[in-house]
Amino acid sequence: MCGIIGYIGSQDALPIVQTGLQNLDYRGYDSAGVALDSGSIEVYKREGKIDNLLDVVPEASDANCGIGHTRWSTHGPPSNANSHPHTDCTGRIAVVHNGIIENYDELKAELSGHTFTSGTDTEVIPHLLEDELDGDTSPVEAINAVVDRLDGSYAFVVTIAGTDAILAAREDSPLVIGHADDGAYLASDVTAFLGHTRDVSYLEDGDVAVLTDGDVEIHRGGCPVEPTVETIDWEADAAEKGGYEHYMLKEIHEQPQALRQTISGRLDTDIGDVDLNLNIPEEYLQSLEEVQFVACGTSYYAGEYAARLFEKIADVRATVSLASEYMFDGGRDPSRTLTIAVTQSGETADTLSAIRTAAEAGARTLAVTNTLGSTVTREVDDSMYIRAGPEIGVAATKTFASQVITLAMLSVYTGKRCGSLSGGRASTLLENMRAVPGAIQQVLDREQQVKAVAEEYADSDAFFFIGRDLGYPVALEGALKLKEISYDHAEGFASGELKHGPLALVTETTPVLAVLTEGSRSEKTLNNVKEVQARGAPVIVASSMENEKFVDELFKVPSAGLFEPLVANVYWQLFAYHVADSKGRPIDKPRNLAKSVTVE
Ligand code: F6R
Repeated sequence: MCGIIGYIGSQDALPIVQTGLQNLDYRGYDSAGVALDSGSIEVYKREGKIDNLLDVVPEASDANCGIGHTRWSTHGPPSNANSHPHTDCTGRIAVVHNGIIENYDELKAELSGHTFTSGTDTEVIPHLLEDELDGDTSPVEAINAVVDRLDGSYAFVVTIAGTDAILAAREDSPLVIGHADDGAYLASDVTAFLGHTRDVSYLEDGDVAVLTDGDVEIHRGGCPVEPTVETIDWEADAAEKGGYEHYMLKEIHEQPQALRQTISGRLDTDIGDVDLNLNIPEEYLQSLEEVQFVACGTSYYAGEYAARLFEKIADVRATVSLASEYMFDGGRDPSRTLTIAVTQSGETADTLSAIRTAAEAGARTLAVTNTLGSTVTREVDDSMYIRAGPEIGVAATKTFASQVITLAMLSVYTGKRCGSLSGGRASTLLENMRAVPGAIQQVLDREQQVKAVAEEYADSDAFFFIGRDLGYPVALEGALKLKEISYDHAEGFASGELKHGPLALVTETTPVLAVLTEGSRSEKTLNNVKEVQARGAPVIVASSMENEKFVDELFKVPSAGLFEPLVANVYWQLFAYHVADSKGRPIDKPRNLAKSVTVE
């Protein structure tokens, strides 16, 4: 998820683009750049925070047309070269892009004779345009021809020297046009230009837009259509959160889109395999004795989910350690051990320390992270990116879902290469993964039901989350989410453990939240549900089974195979959010907590 801004009109473009980038900082902050068009194109870009870019842009410019980009890397680590805008060989065309071009390797190979200067997928776009514009083709025809060759999700914005226009295309990534007396604006969200206009038109998938000083054209299905103009009434702060009250709620709702990015270009359902761009030798995987997950907090629970998936899918022994407790125990053969650090930030001190311990012992190491170029990626043998986009809320939400699906893909990769997973079973798993974004969307559509239940039980004495198998990490994660943002007492238990002690805590004022889905041994958990009901506890269930009659509140989980507990987790996220919100807690910044914990 990157931020895009463009402007063409009667004003100086540079200050407008700079302010737009500062407003979009939350969409990505590993590098930034601008292209100014005053008849010829000038490009300025820098790795790091926007301030680094501001150090190199000129103090003034007479360009009335400009585009800018703030980046959250998915292909190519943060660097000056990988920052956007990217240009063609002639320097006439500059492009900024949000999304993933899945077939960029093939396109690069087809663009023989072109010189590439970055490791990004985006750079193919200006080069493809360069070829298309080589003749009498109009810019709109050229964009349409390029779009026909792209696979993946994108919103891209182009400026071409000498055309006095900004062009844009969208497929699966947002773009919004701002209409103002002084010209036209274009951005990945309205925050970028809210200080200039509130009159906007949202582009739809497949649209191509042409902005000139004084006119906005939208081409839909090859024909021009009149832009529909809406006036938005959000304040700047709300706009940055996409109209949501908190980043956490926005990020909960971003999960379908984040997961589509996570799997984009990585699943081949026909042959039942994944393309993860990893260089782990097949012989090494075939001789693998153990996969170890090391992580903290929510990432640790993603590791717990993944360890169960590895055993089920790849038939490999998998263990999980809290990073702060990790030791490389004797009796293991390090040369047959793969240690996987799961860390959203890539900077968590405990996780870095654990991965160093594994590397010193001689294990192969792999990082699963959201942050390209983070410290962990520089220390491990291999890295995989979860591509969830920046997460601002302290409580991890969308990154948990993207971590689990990334690790699920890795288990398929391992199972296929170890020979323990058949193509048919792999195809079913990949179909299940593809179903997750839609299933989560159905859960999100039921938010009002969850809100009502959360408000009804918000004043309970304590909350207990239970689950088995893949439902157990979700119980732990559900309890963590609730305690960290509501400050209420919440615990997660393996449901079979209740009768070995925790049942003593269960009363009429302690709701029990249970996961009853595929992959969570729901028949057995149902017995535990009945045990707590017999003690008078209210029971709230997230279930894909038919069991309304047993429970006080039922949240329906759509079918998604072994990922149903992951889908159920979204109910627990919404529940935690609405309990905390009803108490007026500072949800995005809970007391005593930080997003990135860089001390041991
Ligand atoms: C909880 C939460 C934390 C993090 C933990 C690890 O909502 O966000 O528990 O999961 O601090 O952080 P990363 O994944 O960055 O290593």
